[in-house]
Amino acid sequence: MQELFDMIFKRKSIRRYDENLSITVDEMMEIKQRIFSLTPLVKEIKVKFNIVEKKETTSKRGEYCLLIYSEQKPLYLLNVGYMLEQMDLFLASRNIGVCWYALAKAKELTLDGLEYVIMLAFGKSKPECFRKDFSKTKRKDLEIIWNGNCYSDTGEIVRYAPSACNTQPWRVISEDHCLSVYRTTQIKSFMPANKLPYYNSIDMGIFLCFLDITLSIKGYQYQRRLAMVNGKNSELIDIASYLIK
Ligand SMILES: Cc1cc2nc3c(=O)[nH]c(=O)nc-3n(C[C@H](O)[C@H](O)[C@H](O)COP(=O)(O)O)c2cc1C
Repeated sequence: MQELFDMIFKRKSIRRYDENLSITVDEMMEIKQRIFSLTPLVKEIKVKFNIVEKKETTSKRGEYCLLIYSEQKPLYLLNVGYMLEQMDLFLASRNIGVCWYALAKAKELTLDGLEYVIMLAFGKSKPECFRKDFSKTKRKDLEIIWNGNCYSDTGEIVRYAPSACNTQPWRVISEDHCLSVYRTTQIKSFMPANKLPYYNSIDMGIFLCFLDITLSIKGYQYQRRLAMVNGKNSELIDIASYLIK
């Protein structure tokens, strides 16, 4: 957990890779093993992973691509974001650069009856390619995403979560012993409006991953409840609530 937390400050999207570096056999074995120990957000949703060479996809980045396929049950996009973000952080700890890659597609769009969702392009990178001063990262100010003054020590960290086109769709209402997490639908982006709910739902899973890691490291005990029903037309869509002891 501590290792993943530390990577929050190191990770960034890596879009250029050194052609002279490559993932070793041992690193690939460790990556494959790590996939088995990912924590799902919703354990009932079936997912499968596949690692393929870049040429098996339309990716222009990385050496390999980690593809995720999922059952399309409620909350599956949140679950995908939550699981793959753990890989993003883990790979940074091994100096393997990652880019979440919505614009690339896999050749195989189904795997054992599960649908392709998204990929992480990855490849070996030099340590200096990673983030050096995370306070310079471009993100919205805390006041925009975090309503109320409770647990702002956590807010100051989770606001660095990555999101599609850096849209940062998360909004949090913080109260004593409770955090309510929402996805705002009021996003202005060059991403086509009909794609926003899909990618921003993955983003919210990424955000929950950051939130769980950060609360745990800060020693907060919490109970997370995922919202099963959410008003589709509202400006703020319920995602989760955290009861903090
Ligand atoms: C779901 C998702 C999809 C993304 N798709 C792309 C993409 O297609 N191309 C790309 O260059 N970056 C993509 N990104 C990376 C984001 O642009 C990046 O995470 C964001 O700008 C924040 O920057 P950082 O990751 O360096 O902190 C994606 C990120 C997420 C979370």
